[in-house]
Amino acid sequence: MEERSISFNYKVFKSREELPSEDAALLQKATVALEQSYSPYSNFKVAAAVLLANGEIVTGSNQENAAFPAGICAEGTVLSAASSLYADVAIVKIAITVKSHKRVIETPVAPCGICRQRLLEYENRFNQSIQIILAGEKGEVFVIDSVKHILPLYFSKNNL
Ligand code: THU
Repeated sequence: MEERSISFNYKVFKSREELPSEDAALLQKATVALEQSYSPYSNFKVAAAVLLANGEIVTGSNQENAAFPAGICAEGTVLSAASSLYADVAIVKIAITVKSHKRVIETPVAPCGICRQRLLEYENRFNQSIQIILAGEKGEVFVIDSVKHILPLYFSKNNL
């Protein structure tokens, strides 16, 4: 028997203001997109903005449904939109932010398991790491350099 471990490094910025200006601008686009969230059931708004290799930015937000599993996460919305609009263009970064009607969220919220898998698909499709920028309404911002860091031992087309 052998024991193995997996660890990863990520950057923590004290606040949005400390981010490089390009990242702060992308996060701001995601923050504006929170207003397009359709989340009457959870009252938990999530929005994302992706920067594409051609410089275009696409935004999306969570879109819920009375039949709960039919709802779509913000990451799923934005990845589908970006891939539909710019099918052959790699995704460089994604900024994700949240807003709850219950409390001010002061810590970054990470993508759910299915969205990690969705993000991985596009990282692998273009063979280019996607940087993930995560922010609450205020407080620290996390920057993670690859989807694989938050989805270790992943499943991909290589397993098929
Ligand atoms: N949600 C996202 O949009 N992204 C995630 O990665 C986690 C959860 C949404 C789904 C649902 O509309 C609401 O947040 C509460 O779960």
